Amino acid sequence: METTNGNFFLIDHPLIKRDVTILRDLRTGPEIFRAALHRISNILAVEISRDFNITETTVETPLERTRGYKLEQEVVLVPVLRAGLGMVSGFLEIIPDAKAGHIGLQRDELTLLPVEYYYKTPRNIAGSIVILLDPMLATGGSSSAAIQYLKDKGAKNLVFACLVASPEGVQRLFNDHPEVKIYGAAMDRELNNKGYILPGLGDAGDRTFGTL
Ligand code: PRP
Ligand code: URA
Repeated sequence: METTNGNFFLIDHPLIKRDVTILRDLRTGPEIFRAALHRISNILAVEISRDFNITETTVETPLERTRGYKLEQEVVLVPVLRAGLGMVSGFLEIIPDAKAGHIGLQRDELTLLPVEYYYKTPRNIAGSIVILLDPMLATGGSSSAAIQYLKDKGAKNLVFACLVASPEGVQRLFNDHPEVKIYGAAMDRELNNKGYILPGLGDAGDRTFGTL
């Protein structure tokens, strides 16, 4: 893992590089897109969970009692609808006892501002590790609003897992929420005048669900 910019941590892995290439490819259809996003999410989950605290416990093997470990805090996954849904199964495979909340945000195509349409989070996110999931960090408007909502709900231990980040989005989140670590699979060059990431992969929600 290498840090490139303030609170952004690039998960540098050959399999991620291979799969991000598949996601970028305009010929990749939804089925292959979802599978690659799932695999990347697996690796992100493993890398992000390195920082989780564990406490000692005991366990009975068939032969004797020995030392064991458990996670200190529950994990809550919070995908931003729609595209964040594509990351949930990969995270749940690695952290199967995680709970999940959902945040519905739709970026207005003209203003580029996020419009809220749904919120549901489990109780006790204050005592949990909360992982916000959204493949795209473009202007940062959506993820900043989602992080603010989770903080207002009491979240204290909060990280953001994305796929492709823009320098503008990382800077925005650093300004708004400097304590929140961002983990990503790629840091791209810039945004175009419609707020799309370049080179990027297009509209992640449309590519995941075949609504192009
Ligand atoms: C995309 C993406 C993020 C947001 C990023 O969602 O999944 O939520 O845009 O852009 P931002 O950083 O400039 O806010 P979109 O609004 O297209 O909704 P969708 O997932 O339903 O397609
Ligand atoms: N949302 C996307 O899905 N893709 C982008 O490039 C920017 C925002």
